[in-house]
Amino acid sequence: MKKYPVNPTGDLVIKTLAMPGNTNSNGDIFGGWVLSQMDLGGGIIAKTYSPSGRVVTVAIESMSFINPISVGESVSCYAKVIEFGRSSMKIQIETWVYNYLARTQKIVTNGVFTYVAVDEHGKPILINKLVNHATR
Ligand SMILES: CC(C)(COP(=O)(O)OP(=O)(O)OC[C@H]1O[C@@H](n2cnc3c(N)ncnc32)[C@H](O)[C@@H]1OP(=O)(O)O)[C@@H](O)C(=O)NCCC(=O)NCCS
Repeated sequence: MKKYPVNPTGDLVIKTLAMPGNTNSNGDIFGGWVLSQMDLGGGIIAKTYSPSGRVVTVAIESMSFINPISVGESVSCYAKVIEFGRSSMKIQIETWVYNYLARTQKIVTNGVFTYVAVDEHGKPILINKLVNHATR
């Protein structure tokens, strides 16, 4: 059995509630919805390093679905840059849920997403690594 962290890593970038409209046919939360929350959360950090404020997601290098999410749990995505390229950056993103009845939190997904800073024509541009993203 693989060991997973007991506490989140990175900045909190998304916090929302798992709603009935986001379920799959088993009644759990649909993985595609979780993936889109992670992509949004990583994009929030990535955009701060793009001089144009624009980024695109170019790859998802790894993605694990570790635990299911139930309706009514809070869903939080945490993200941190783990590698800068010239125009690209790899961002590690974790999703954690909090169950209000059990009063417990657990990790549900983790993944590494790659974003590329682009100009207004969608062409790659150099990123600015010196930004303090916490202020954005
Ligand atoms: C991302 C995109 C602008 C890159 O354009 P490109 O012509 O391939 O540009 P380059 O070859 O110069 O690569 C630019 C950077 O992206 C990285 N890159 C390109 N394809 C990649 C891939 N599949 N995985 C990881 N990194 C990749 C390159 O390594 C390079 O990084 P660096 O500048 O840090 O060295 C282009 O592929 C694109 O627009 N893709 C669609 C993105 C999109 O629409 N995303 C939403 C999907 S719903």
